[in-house]
Amino acid sequence: MKISPKMRKSLNDQVTLEASASSSYLAMASWCEVTGYQGSANYFYMQSDEERTHMLKIIHYLNDMGAVASISAIKAPVISYKSLEGLIKTALKNEQAVTKAIHTMVDIAQKEKDHSTYAFLEWFVNEQVQEETKFETVLQKFDLIGRDKLAINEIDKILAMDAATPDDTVA
Ligand SMILES: [Fe+2]
Ligand SMILES: [Fe+2]
Repeated sequence: MKISPKMRKSLNDQVTLEASASSSYLAMASWCEVTGYQGSANYFYMQSDEERTHMLKIIHYLNDMGAVASISAIKAPVISYKSLEGLIKTALKNEQAVTKAIHTMVDIAQKEKDHSTYAFLEWFVNEQVQEETKFETVLQKFDLIGRDKLAINEIDKILAMDAATPDDTVA
């Protein structure tokens, strides 16, 4: 094993965290779909897929390092939301927690002089900046456009457009 047991545990915990994020966004997508927010549903189905790719990245890294990834059970996600805005606030909180966990891993890698893991985590550090900005930008739309039915419909359309474009930017 090319990494320490402590690093291995942190990375495995991160596998679980990314799996939880994927499951949480899947539940959000489903809620949006049944609530009539089709654009937001597409957007969150896409977010869910993205979190799965993050999870896979870490699994492959662990296995490549001879550390062997462990796949743990995840908690059932929240399946019901009061509003689209509330849902996106929860998504932002999720991302903030993920950022914190990644920064903690970077601290460990630095302390242990684990250059490989440090380099591996750099992608995640940058990704988290984008992830938080993404949801902050969506939340800003509620202040800019409004919270009535027409405004929410407009925001749903913006998310639909974002889901249809390959990059991560919100229009
Ligand atoms: Fe992620
Ligand atoms: Fe994320």
